[in-house]
Amino acid sequence: MLSFIRPYRWHFIGGLILLFFGSLTFMAFPYLAGELADVATGTSKLGMDLNQIGLILIVILLLQGVMSYLRVIWFAVVSEKGVADVRSSIYQKLIGLPVYFFERNRVGDLTSRISEDVNRLSSVFSNTLAELIRQVLILITGIVFLMVTTPRLSLTMLATFPVIVVGAMFFGRYVRNLSRSRQKSLANTNTVVEETLQNINTVKAFTNETFEYNRYKTEMGHVVKTSLQLAKYRAAFATFIIVVLFGVIFFILWYGAKMVQDHTMTIGQLVSFISYTAIIGAAIGSLGNFYTEIVTALGGTERIREILNETVEVNVPVVVNRPKVKGHIRFEDVYFEYPSRPDMPVLRGIDLDILPGQKIALVGQSGSGKSTIASLLMRLYPWQKGQITLDGIDINTMDLSAYRSVYAIVPQEVLLFGGTIRENILYGHPGASEDELMAAARTSNSLDFIQSFPDGFDTIVGERGIKLSGGQRQRIAIARAVLRNPAVLILDEATSSLDAESEKVVQEALERLLEGRTAIIIAHRLATIRNVDCIYVLEDGKIVEKGTHDQLSLHEEGLYAALAKLQFDI
Ligand SMILES: Nc1ncnc2c1ncn2[C@@H]1O[C@H](COP(=O)(O)OP(=O)(O)O)[C@@H](O)[C@H]1O
Ligand SMILES: [Mg+2]
Repeated sequence: MLSFIRPYRWHFIGGLILLFFGSLTFMAFPYLAGELADVATGTSKLGMDLNQIGLILIVILLLQGVMSYLRVIWFAVVSEKGVADVRSSIYQKLIGLPVYFFERNRVGDLTSRISEDVNRLSSVFSNTLAELIRQVLILITGIVFLMVTTPRLSLTMLATFPVIVVGAMFFGRYVRNLSRSRQKSLANTNTVVEETLQNINTVKAFTNETFEYNRYKTEMGHVVKTSLQLAKYRAAFATFIIVVLFGVIFFILWYGAKMVQDHTMTIGQLVSFISYTAIIGAAIGSLGNFYTEIVTALGGTERIREILNETVEVNVPVVVNRPKVKGHIRFEDVYFEYPSRPDMPVLRGIDLDILPGQKIALVGQSGSGKSTIASLLMRLYPWQKGQITLDGIDINTMDLSAYRSVYAIVPQEVLLFGGTIRENILYGHPGASEDELMAAARTSNSLDFIQSFPDGFDTIVGERGIKLSGGQRQRIAIARAVLRNPAVLILDEATSSLDAESEKVVQEALERLLEGRTAIIIAHRLATIRNVDCIYVLEDGKIVEKGTHDQLSLHEEGLYAALAKLQFDI
C-alpha cells in the first residue's frame, strides 16, 4: 500500500516534518506552564518574568496554527490522491479480469471493496497515521523530558507500559478478525440492494418485496451483531486503558504532592509534571484507538490486495491493432467445462469448420452448449482440450484484445448503458464520425425510430430516460455491430425474444449486417436459418448432425427434422 503513497512522498514527508516540529513546540507548553507557576511563587531559576513567558507562549501559538494548517492540507493531498490511485488501480484491475472472475465474486462485494475498504484506508492516511505519529512523538519527548527532570516519578509511570502493549496485542487480534467479517456482511447487504434494485420489475412481478426485505434485514442483523461484538472489544480495551491510566495519574498526584511537601520539588515542577503526564496519558489512550483503526484498515487492505493480486487477461490501458483476417474458423475436438462447475462437461468434442464468408447456424435444445461455443470463440473461458484456430492460427497465441476486435456479437438480451442512444451506438467504434453513425443507424433500420424521439440521437436510454422496446434495443445493438465492422459476426438468438413484426425489421437489418462476413448464427427459430451454408445440430455438448436445411430435412429420423416438425406445426 505504501507504493501508492510514493508519488506524493514530498507532501507526506513535509507533513511529517511539520508534525514533528508541531509536536515539539506543543511539548514546550507544559514546561512553560510550570515556569509560570514558579515565577509567580518566586522559585524560578530561569530569570524570566511573566511577560516574557507570555510572549513565548504567543509565538508558540502562532507557529502551531500555521504548522497544523499546512500539515492537514498536505496530508489531505497525500490521502486523497493516494486513495484515488488505489481506486483507479482496483478498477483498472477489475475491468481487465476475465469473466469467470465475476462468476466467482458478487458485484456488491466488489463495489464495497472499492468504496468501503478504500474509505478506511483513506481515513488512515488523512488522519489516523498523522495522529498516531504525533502521539508517539508526544509520548517520546514527554517521557524523555520527564526522565531528565523527575526520574523517580517517571519510572513508576513507565512500569505500566508493558501491560498496555500486551493488552493491545491481545485485543488487536480479535478486532482484526471481527472487522473482516463485518466488512463481509456489509458487502452482502450491498449485494442484496444492488441485485433487487437492478431487477426491480421481477421483484414486483413476483410480489417478493417482503422476501427481499427480510433477506436484507437478516444480512443487516449480521452486520449489527458483528459490529456490536467489535464495539464490545473496543469498549473493553478503552476501559482497560482508562483504568490503568487514571490509577497511575492518581498515584503520581499523591506522590508528587508528598515531594512538594518535602521540598524535593517545586510547585511549578509538579504542575509541568502533571501536565506532561496528562498529555502522555491521553497519547497512550488514543494509541489504542488508532491501533484498532489501523488494524481494521489492514483487514480492508487484505481484501483490496486480493483483487490487486488477481491475474488480468487484458492489461488496461490496451492498444488494439485490429488484425486483417479472412475469417476461417476451426474447432478441433474441443472439450470444455465451466470453471465454476468443474466435472460437468458442457462441450464434448466439438468440431467445426467455417470457411471465410460462410454463414453457419448452431441449433439445438436450450442448454445444449450453443452460447458456450460462442464464448469460447471469444476466449471468455479457457477450454480443457482441443484447439480453436482462426485462419489456421491457434487463437490462444494471438493478442487477446486484437483477437477479440475481429468479432461483434448481437445477443438475445441487449443491455444498453445508461447514456444516450448516440453513446450506445458509438460503443461499437468510439471514434466513428457523424456520417458513419447515421449510416449505421440507417443500415440497422433504427434511424426512423431514433428520429421520432424529440431528442433524436441524444435521447437518454435506460435509467431516467425512455425505455426502448426489445426490437429497438436489438436494432441499436445491430447499429453498434455495423459501426464495429467485424470480420466475424456472432448472432446469439438475436431475434428470439421479438414479436413477428419487429423480428421482420430486425431480420432485414441483420441480413445487411451479415453481407460479406463470416457468421455464426445461433437460432431458436429455424425459419431464420434456412439459407445458411451449414447447420450444426447440438445435443448435450456434441454435434449430432450437420448439413444444409434441405439435407437435414430429408433425414427424417434426425433431431433437426424433429425440431423442424415441432416448430412448423405450431
Ligand atoms: N457461466 C456458466 N457457468 C456454469 N455453467 C454454465 C454457464 N453458462 C452456461 N452454463 C451451463 O452450460 C450448459 C450450456 O449452456 P449454453 O451454452 O448457454 O446453452 P445454450 O446456449 O445452448 O442454451 C448449460 O447446462 C448451462 O447450465
Ligand atoms: Mg444460449
